[in-house]
Amino acid sequence: MMDWTDRHCRYFLRLLSPSVRLYTEMVTAAAIVHGDSDHLLRFDAAEHPIALQLGGSDKDWMARAASKAAQFGYDELNINVGCPSDRVQSGQFGACLMAAPATVAECYKAMRAEADLPVTVKTRIGIDDKDSYEFLRRFVDALVSAGCDTFIVHARIAILEGLSPKENRTVPPLNYERVYRLKQDCPDLHIVLNGGIDSLQKVDTALQHVDSVMIGRAAYHTPYFLAELDAHLQPDSELPARRDVVQRMLPYIERELAAGERLHRITRHMTGLFSGQPGARSWRRSLSENAYRQDAGVDVLVNALQQMPMAA
Ligand SMILES: Cc1cc2nc3c(=O)[nH]c(=O)nc-3n(C[C@H](O)[C@H](O)[C@H](O)COP(=O)(O)O)c2cc1C
Repeated sequence: MMDWTDRHCRYFLRLLSPSVRLYTEMVTAAAIVHGDSDHLLRFDAAEHPIALQLGGSDKDWMARAASKAAQFGYDELNINVGCPSDRVQSGQFGACLMAAPATVAECYKAMRAEADLPVTVKTRIGIDDKDSYEFLRRFVDALVSAGCDTFIVHARIAILEGLSPKENRTVPPLNYERVYRLKQDCPDLHIVLNGGIDSLQKVDTALQHVDSVMIGRAAYHTPYFLAELDAHLQPDSELPARRDVVQRMLPYIERELAAGERLHRITRHMTGLFSGQPGARSWRRSLSENAYRQDAGVDVLVNALQQMPMAA
C-alpha cells in the first residue's frame, strides 16, 4: 500500500506474523529502470516471503524491472491492475488495464522470461460500466493463456472517473460472490480474495470459498490482527505479546537510526499496535508527539512502553 507498506512497516509486521506474505507498495517499472533501484528495492532478509508489486504497461520496462527485482531476491512479482488514481491512469497502468488484457498478458510473459519468479496479478472485479462476471473472466482468461495461475481480486469495481482512490476503496460495493464464482469455475487457479476483511470470522468464511485472503487496511490500522490471524491459522504458533514486539523492534530501529533514518519514519507504522487495549491512546500520542524530535531515539519507545498499563 502506497506510503504505508514501506520496508520499516514490513519489518514490523513480520515480527507480528512469521508466516504472512508481505507486499511492497506499488513501485513503477519506470522508476526502477530509470531511478535509484537500490533505494526502491532493498529490504531486510527478515521480510521474506515478500512480493514486489509493479505498476506499468510497457513490457520491456516491466521485464527490466522484473530482472532487477529477481537480483534483489524477491519471492514474487505482482502486477498492479487495481489502482484507480489519475496519475496511474495517465501512465496507462493500474485498474484501466482491465480493459487491455492482451497488454497485461504481454507484460506477464516478458516478466516471466526475464525473472525466474512467480508473477501474479492484482485486479478489481470490473471497471466503470464493465461490471460483470464475464468481463472479469475475459481478463482472467487472457492472463491464464499467458501462463498466470494466481489472481488477487479486490472484490469491488473501480470507477475511473469521478471517485478519488480513497472513495474507490469504499463506495463501490463489495461483491465477494463474483470472486467465489471465479474460483468455482476455475478450480485450478489460486484465487486470493481482497477487500473489507477485518476479522477472523471473515477470514474463515472467505477460506471456505477461495484459497487465500489479502488484508490491507485492517493489517495497517490494527496490526496485532495479523498476529491473532497467524495464531488462529497455525495453532502451533504462539501469540507474541505486544510489548515483546516493541522490544524486538528496538535493535532494528537502532540500526536504522545509526544509518541516518528518522525515528518517526519507523514508529508511524507502530501507532496502532495497542489499538483496542487499555492505554492505546497514550501510546499513540506518546509516539506521535515525541518521535518527530530531531534527535529522537529508541528512548521514545521505551518511555511510551513504560507508561502503558501492564495488562496491555
Ligand atoms: C493508503 C493505501 C494505499 C494503497 N496502495 C495500494 C498499492 O500500492 N497497490 C495496491 O494493489 N493496492 C493498494 N491499496 C489498496 C489495498 O491493497 C486494498 O486492495 C484495498 O484497501 C482493499 O482491501 P482492504 O479492505 O483489506 O484494505 C492501497 C490502499 C490504501 C488504504
